[in-house]
Amino acid sequence: MSDSFKEVLRSVRESALKEIAQARTEEEVNQIRIEILGRKGKLTLLLRRVRELPSQERPWAGEQANILKTELEEKIEELLVRLHDEEKQRLLSQEQLDITLPGTPLLRGRVHPITQVMAQIVDIFTRMGFQVAEGPQVELDYYNFEALNIPRDHPARDMHDTFYFSDEVLLRTHTSPVQIRVMESQRPPIQIIAPGAVYRRDSDISHTPMFHQVEGLMVDEGVSFAHLKGVLTFFVHEMFGEGTPLRFRPSFFPFTEPSAEVDIGCVICHGEGCRVCGGTGWLEILGAGMVDPEVFSIVGYDPEEVTGFAFGMGVERIAMLKYGINDIRLFFTNDLRFLTQF
Ligand code: DAH
Repeated sequence: MSDSFKEVLRSVRESALKEIAQARTEEEVNQIRIEILGRKGKLTLLLRRVRELPSQERPWAGEQANILKTELEEKIEELLVRLHDEEKQRLLSQEQLDITLPGTPLLRGRVHPITQVMAQIVDIFTRMGFQVAEGPQVELDYYNFEALNIPRDHPARDMHDTFYFSDEVLLRTHTSPVQIRVMESQRPPIQIIAPGAVYRRDSDISHTPMFHQVEGLMVDEGVSFAHLKGVLTFFVHEMFGEGTPLRFRPSFFPFTEPSAEVDIGCVICHGEGCRVCGGTGWLEILGAGMVDPEVFSIVGYDPEEVTGFAFGMGVERIAMLKYGINDIRLFFTNDLRFLTQF
């Protein structure tokens, strides 16, 4: 065994152990590992030199070099584990968790005020035995106008500011077409309400291009205007409070005869007269009337046999009056300061 190989082996071992003993961080240890065991590390080079030794010395030299390699690898591994533990202990002893600090509050979603008011309207009428019916928002001219006794050249069409897709197809301007669809597919007795979105080309402080209506329809033998008054009086008292006054004012709709508009006593001034009610003491909340015999004929009902009433109201308008909101656009701008009040 060449003394010089033994000597080198010993000095590599000694310097490596010394370095390992001095290492203080994981980084330093990794550096040492590379210097000793890396591709160009001291021990790696030494192992390579074994090949150059005389053949009878090689087995022993190789064995010794490998023993040293294993020894150093184990030492490095041990040290790494120890440093890692020490670092963890150090961090744990420094860290403080104040469990009395308040958490970050999570914002809870809530039901949109229009959806709330719509649900309330639906609830009041379903308690009186009305069933919910629905129809398409993309509607045919026939259902939106024609079958409701509003022919092409009828002046009532001007009021509707319709979005048209074509001559025959449009966005419904009211929920009244649901009346026609229900009567076409069912025989009396009928007692339905139709809540839903409607569309008009209109936009200002009290109009948005999309808004919501609830339509009502009751058809049977012997349905009278008295029934209409009873149903709507119950609705107004449930919605705006027991003592709320209401009046039926003569009006005109092509699909009802006679027709009326219903006013309630101004919720702001209680009849004194103010800016909101234009000094009249009354606020209009819906349109209504007895179904026009012409409409019955169109859907194939015999106007001699059945009578009925219908009504329609704007949900946004009801919500504005109920909560004293003066700009309809607040419902659609998604400002949480507004929405979280409901
Ligand atoms: N459809 C009417 C509108 O949008 C509201 C209406 C009035 C509906 C009278 C009715 C009714 O059913 O009888 O202005």
